Amino acid sequence: MVKSADERVDLLQGGPTLKTVHVKTFGCQMNVHDSQRIQELLATSHGLRSVERPEEADLVVLNTCHVREKAEEKLFSELGRIRKMHKGSSFIMAVGGCVGQAEGTHIFRRAPYVDIVFGPQNFQRLPELLDRIVQGEKHLTDSDFAVEEKFEILDSLPTATEIVAPVTVQEGCDRFCTFCVVPHTRGREFSRSVEEITKEVENHLSSGAGEILLLGQNVNAYHGLDQDGVTHDLALLIRRLITLSGVDRLRFVTSHPVDMNDDLVEVFGEFEQLCPYMHLPVQSGSDATLTAMKRGHTIDAYLTWIDRLRAARPDIAIASDFIVGFPGETEDDFQRTLELVHRVQYDHAYSFKYSPRSGTEAAALADDIPEEVKAERLSRLQEVINHYQYAHNKKRVGKVESVLVEGVDKRFKGRLTGRTPTFRSVYFDGPESWVGRRVDVMITEGKPNSLRGRTASTLNTFSPGEQFS
Ligand code: SAH
Ligand code: SF4
Ligand code: F3S
Repeated sequence: MVKSADERVDLLQGGPTLKTVHVKTFGCQMNVHDSQRIQELLATSHGLRSVERPEEADLVVLNTCHVREKAEEKLFSELGRIRKMHKGSSFIMAVGGCVGQAEGTHIFRRAPYVDIVFGPQNFQRLPELLDRIVQGEKHLTDSDFAVEEKFEILDSLPTATEIVAPVTVQEGCDRFCTFCVVPHTRGREFSRSVEEITKEVENHLSSGAGEILLLGQNVNAYHGLDQDGVTHDLALLIRRLITLSGVDRLRFVTSHPVDMNDDLVEVFGEFEQLCPYMHLPVQSGSDATLTAMKRGHTIDAYLTWIDRLRAARPDIAIASDFIVGFPGETEDDFQRTLELVHRVQYDHAYSFKYSPRSGTEAAALADDIPEEVKAERLSRLQEVINHYQYAHNKKRVGKVESVLVEGVDKRFKGRLTGRTPTFRSVYFDGPESWVGRRVDVMITEGKPNSLRGRTASTLNTFSPGEQFS
C-alpha cells in the first residue's frame, strides 16, 4: 500500500513543503501510461497536484526514452532548460524511465543538479525516495526490476477516469532484436494475471471509460494465468475481457510478427468490439536485414499474417514501424522495404534512422551506412508511407464512422476530436458534453494525417455501455 500524505506529515516535518509536480513524458505508450500512474501515485502519497508548467512545480519528473540516441540527447537539453526556468529557486528534479534505467548514476555526473534517478520497473518507490531527498539525502537511485511489487502498489491506487483507458497486460521483452534496448531497460517479459487485468478493466469501465487499450512492449507474447492456473494467450484474454466485462471498444499495442497465432486472427473476425487495428512492426522488407536484426521471421511469413488478418476483418487498419540504414543494409535491401510498403499499403507507419545503442548486439557492428544515405532513405520511405496514409484517409470520405470523442480541439472553439475504430483522428463540430461518448460522424474530408467530418441530426451518439443499434 502507498503511505498517504497524512501519514507522512510527521516524517517530513521541518523539510521543504512539496505541493506540485510536473511530469514530462518522452517515448512510447508505456511511458505515457507510466507518467499517468506516477501522477496518481504522488497525488496519493504526497498530495501533489499536477501542473502544466515545469517552472511552477516543486518536483519535476522527466520520464525518458532510450530507444534512439536523439531521444536521449533531448533529455539532457531538457534538463538544462528546466533548470534555467527555475532561475535558481530550489526544486526537486527526478529522471525516470528507460534512460534512468540504462544510465543510472551516470546522469548525476552529467547533470549533478538531478536529485533522483529511477527506472520503469521501480517508480512505485518514488514516494520513499522523495522523502529521503526532503530529509537531506542526495543523489538517490533505484534501478531494480521490481515489476511484481510495482503492480501490487499500483493496484491499490484509485482508478482515474480516462476515456481511453490504458491497461498494462505485459511488460518487458525477451526477444532481444539486435538493435533494441528495450529488453535492457524494461527487463524480461512479465505477464500480469487475468484476474488483475479483468479487475482493472472493470474499474475503468465503471468509471466511464469508452475504450480499453491493452498495453505491452510485445503484447501478443502475453501469457498470463487465470485463477485456475490456466495460461491465457492474448486472444483468450481478449475473449475473456469482451465476454466478462462487456467492453464496447478494445484495442491492443504493440505486436511482434513472431508471436502471432491463428486465434488472434480469429478474434478479429469474431468480435466487433475488438477495434480493427493492428500495429505489427516489420522494421525492414528484406529477409537479409530481418535475419541480421534477429527478428525471427521472413517477409513471406509476415505477408501471410497480413493477408489472413485482412481476410478475417476486411476493414482492419495495418500499421508498422521501420528502421532504415541498419548495418549492412544495401540499396537492394532498402528497395525491398519500399516494395513491401507498396504491397501492404499501410494505413500508418513510423520510420526511423538506425541509431546504435550501447549494450545491444548490433552495437558491435560497424554503423556503416552514412548519415546522408540514412536520411535520404528515410525521406524516400516516408514519401511512400505518407502517400498510402493519405490515400486511405481520402477513401473514408462519404462514410459514417463511429468516433469516440476524446476531447475538445484546443485550436478551434466548438470543435471536437476523437478516433475511429481504425485509430484515425477525426475533427468535427459538436458540444463539449459529447466528450467521452461515441458519435456517428460523416467523413467530409481526408487530410494527410487526419479526417474532418460532421454529425447530422439523424446520426446517433452513444454513451459508454449503450449498444450500437
Ligand atoms: N516493441 C515494439 C517496438 C519497441 S521500440 C516492437 O517490437 O515492435 C519502437 C520502435 O523504435 C521499433 O519498432 C523500432 O522501429 C524503433 N527502434 C528501436 N530501436 C531502434 C534503434 N536502435 N534505432 C532506430 N530505431 C529503433
Ligand atoms: Fe525491442 Fe524487438 Fe522487443 Fe520490440 S520485440 S521491444 S523491437 S527487442
Ligand atoms: Fe523508449 Fe523505453 Fe518505451 S526505450 S520506446 S520509453 S520502453
